[in-house]
Amino acid sequence: MIKPIHRYSCILIDFWHKFAERNFTIIRRQNCLHAPKLVLGIETSCDDTGIAIVDQNGQIISEVCASQTALHVSNGGIIPPVARDLHKTVIDRCVSNCFHNANVLPSDIAAIAVTVKPGLPLSLLVGCNYAKKLSAKYNLPVIPIHHMEAHALTALIQYPTKLSFPFVTLLISGGHSIICFVNGIDDFRLMGQSVDDAPGDIMDKTARALKLKNLGPPFNLISGGAAIELMAKNGDPFAYFSRITSYPLYSSRHRTCNFSFSGFLTAIQRKIRQLEIDNQTSPDEVLTEAPDLCASILFVISFILIKRLQRAFQYLDEKELLLPTSDYDQRKLVVSGGCAANRFIAGMLKNYCYHEAIDLFIPTPKLCTDNGVMIAWNGMLKLQNEKLFPHFILRNKKFIQMLDIDSKAKLGHDISRDVTNANIKCERIDIKSFVNFL
Ligand code: KG4
Ligand code: ZN
Repeated sequence: MIKPIHRYSCILIDFWHKFAERNFTIIRRQNCLHAPKLVLGIETSCDDTGIAIVDQNGQIISEVCASQTALHVSNGGIIPPVARDLHKTVIDRCVSNCFHNANVLPSDIAAIAVTVKPGLPLSLLVGCNYAKKLSAKYNLPVIPIHHMEAHALTALIQYPTKLSFPFVTLLISGGHSIICFVNGIDDFRLMGQSVDDAPGDIMDKTARALKLKNLGPPFNLISGGAAIELMAKNGDPFAYFSRITSYPLYSSRHRTCNFSFSGFLTAIQRKIRQLEIDNQTSPDEVLTEAPDLCASILFVISFILIKRLQRAFQYLDEKELLLPTSDYDQRKLVVSGGCAANRFIAGMLKNYCYHEAIDLFIPTPKLCTDNGVMIAWNGMLKLQNEKLFPHFILRNKKFIQMLDIDSKAKLGHDISRDVTNANIKCERIDIKSFVNFL
């Protein structure tokens, strides 16, 4: 629960560093009669230095996020050593600021949760090494966190009463496209994932190919996905790629929950090149067709996601894994990761869920993109379940110092082959019509 707001004062502060573009809200803790249990979260798996402190009720006590997006957009993509150096430069200030705004000391913290997998190795190492140092200095336990598990369980902080296990999660970010059945904080069953690119990657590459950053602020300050969303606002989602949604890979012949986006990316890049030649655009110019292109891309991505979700739910129905517990109980879907912040995609998923009687949970955009809150919260869930899963928490100093990163870690137990072997044919649903209700 992020609220109740009356117990907290919200202040907006500017981050001091030149490359940090994002302002952030800090919820200040007031005097409490009983000292709450607190967990510090450290997230540095990609290009955001996210630090947060949460309590046992999921209250966000303090949050700091230093984003590197603007710099990476101007560089034309993330250069891993640059990302590492930026994390290293800001992490200490972010952590001290987080403690300062929470009005607590490191010795008040019950544990440090830190992302150790998956992600960019150089970036992960910054957070992991920082957590080790802090743990040694203040004698604190460390909780290693899986970045994608944290994305999947973030919604629990926002919907503590409505959302419960089991649920299906769709995680869509810069590095992942995953459908997973989640039956507990340690029970993830991977139903399908991208065999090549992720939707965020497609959007980042398309924003670069369209040279959207040349349009100036805010396009040169925001992620590729956010730029595509902004550009698509007045575009026609059916202007391009109408045939791609009937390609076998995206429709009925491959009865799987796995995704493939690389063919679509090639089609997008070919279309952009062809339009640039036809229009004789100058090298720095942005195509006048960009709004229609972006809207069409968002439609196709939504279409592919919905197709795979449809099969995932049908599989779970057949296996009776999502049985209702009451007359009012509906199947649940949690969508998270950076691309879940996209209003077009979220709107399409909302309409699909309405059509299929599924309860949809999407965290606020700030909690969909990378942040320290999701790491701190995942750490808190693990701490609360330490008796059941003692291996979640590292308390031994030697083991803490031996903690390592795993840049390519998989998510959960892989049942994707079983899902494909089930050979489930899905009923046709009119996904195009969902656009009318956006
Ligand atoms: O989860 P995230 O912050 O980092 C990773 O774990 O990858 O996701 C980052 C991705 C980027 O590819 C970015 O372009 C995309 O999320 N993204 C968006 C939006 N905001 C960020 N994609 C679509 N619409 C947005 N509004
Ligand atoms: Zn992420």
